[in-house]
Amino acid sequence: MDYSLLWLDWKTNALLPEYTGRIVGLPATRQGKAALRELMNGLKAMGGEPEQCGNRETGPAIRLTEYLGNDEKVTLRRRGEGMELIGSGRALLYGVFHLLRHLAMGETYPEWESSPAYPIRMLDHWDNADGSIERGYAGRSFFFREGKPVCSARTREYARLLASVGLNGCCLNNVNVSGEALELITGKYDGVLREIGETLGEYGVSLWLSVSFAAPLDQGGLPTADPLDPAVRRWWGDTCARLFAAVPGLAGFLVKADSEGRPGPHIYGRTQAEGANMLAEAVRPYGGRILWRCFVYSCTQDWRDQRTDRARAQYDTFAPLDGQFADNVLLQIKNGPVDFQIREPVSPLALRLEKTKSIMEFQLAQEYTGQQRHLCWLAPMMKETLDLRGPAGAVKDRLSAICAVSNTGDDPNWTGHDLAAANLYAFGRLCWDPELEAEGLARDWTRLTFGPDPAVTETVTDMLLCSREVYEQYTAPLGLGWLCVPGTHYGPSPEGYEYDRWGTYHRATCREIGVERGPLGTGFTDQYGPELGGMYANAAACPEELLLFFHRLPYTYRMKDGRTLLQRIYDDHFAGCARAEAMAKAWDGLEGRIPPDVFARVRERFREQLRSAREWRDVVNSWLYRLTLIPDEQGRELYI
Ligand code: GCU
Repeated sequence: MDYSLLWLDWKTNALLPEYTGRIVGLPATRQGKAALRELMNGLKAMGGEPEQCGNRETGPAIRLTEYLGNDEKVTLRRRGEGMELIGSGRALLYGVFHLLRHLAMGETYPEWESSPAYPIRMLDHWDNADGSIERGYAGRSFFFREGKPVCSARTREYARLLASVGLNGCCLNNVNVSGEALELITGKYDGVLREIGETLGEYGVSLWLSVSFAAPLDQGGLPTADPLDPAVRRWWGDTCARLFAAVPGLAGFLVKADSEGRPGPHIYGRTQAEGANMLAEAVRPYGGRILWRCFVYSCTQDWRDQRTDRARAQYDTFAPLDGQFADNVLLQIKNGPVDFQIREPVSPLALRLEKTKSIMEFQLAQEYTGQQRHLCWLAPMMKETLDLRGPAGAVKDRLSAICAVSNTGDDPNWTGHDLAAANLYAFGRLCWDPELEAEGLARDWTRLTFGPDPAVTETVTDMLLCSREVYEQYTAPLGLGWLCVPGTHYGPSPEGYEYDRWGTYHRATCREIGVERGPLGTGFTDQYGPELGGMYANAAACPEELLLFFHRLPYTYRMKDGRTLLQRIYDDHFAGCARAEAMAKAWDGLEGRIPPDVFARVRERFREQLRSAREWRDVVNSWLYRLTLIPDEQGRELYI
């Protein structure tokens, strides 16, 4: 096997309770059987000797009681001196992984009664048919090899990983559909798609495909892709009839339309709702759904134009259409209004939609957050997003689904940085239960991955918990974002996006920095309604970590603790770098306690993180020093 088992690499456990020696119950479905197999294998890996007793109950045992259906509710309860697990086949899977996880962490009777918070909990792969991965930092695709989709042992292993943290969906290909991926819906790959769908399905994971809105034109040979054209509708209808019959595990399509050059309904003078509904109609007979991305903005902006504000675009496009989308359409909204920066406010569209279902999109692939070379654990960001309360309740209570851009590839450790697997783990667990605490998630992942050594658990948990803030400190301050190198998005280039077409400007002068987004500026804060918007619009009330997202301010602006804005930025960069150094040192202290290959790989990553953090610190601080000629109050080195 050329890949690791991540948190499913069960360690020998001398404390297995007696009841784990007998398994009672014979699940009938494929998923139920997979649950039984996982239970047996997991207990064996922990050093147990479980005996399968059919339906005979003779003493303390784990009883599996399977219900037919697709319900995801799990009941895991004590039954005499043993445990009983009750649910559908897929629920048994979730229950088995829960039980194994808790046994691995030394618990004896981990009772659990739970249903997932969202019916769709999925990962989006930005995998291309040629095997490359857009914004992929963990090797190449394991779904596509040599230009074609493949179903391999790794597909199954991946499905296990997803199910083990409660995820139930996976979109196979990049939202920017190109090359051979355009053929995924034409029948050419039905056989292998069916195989992939079945393999994922055994673990309760549905298959989704990204499709191009222009497929009727490009693949169908029609003269148009106009969503209101009857021939276009017929083409999609016929395509779906064939595809859904051939690929039973298919759940629907993910669509990036009218976004960054992708084709979409706007080309034909139609609305986003008209485009989405046309596809929704085509997939409806098969219970299919359309995930329609809201990442619609002008990427050909003139940097001289001060009125257009990219942050406004998604709300301006989609909020007026609320109520016009079919009920099997979910609007897919990135967590922030711009694009996966280390700190953004929650997208106001997620707080606004009332009559339309929405799916929030996070990015586990660390495009802007260190590209899996820096440690940046995103659970705190996900929680802060989900917990935010708007006028009509918390974000987490308004969503119908959650997804994330996957951070996996065919690297032996799946995620490039060994510690980046903690992002995948925490994401799955939070999709099931957004109330889980970040600290518990960090601790559980660390224990499951590295075993019970308390020194490792404490050190790695602490690192994970502070890593996002540390990254934020030494990179882009106070919600400013976009100081990265254009294109690659790795490393600092403070003016890199300034005179470009992407709508991501800070307009820094020698006196001020930032874009004013309150009522006297672009008016973006209005999209949050009076209460939240009022708070963001008022610099004194605005959360400081978002100050420069919402405001244009002089460097001499006084922060709450009395420091100037500029001094705060200088200080953050020095502090972030020092904290990154401390993390790297703490990792070095774990030598001998972590498997040597993992230890060495992570140490290398920390070396690069430190090199890059110092570069960020010196470039950003020196850039502002050159602009302002205001020195650091503490006399630390800045470079003219
Ligand atoms: C970002 C990213 C692109 C990606 C896009 C998207 O802009 O840089 O590579 O295609 O997001 O979410 O569609």
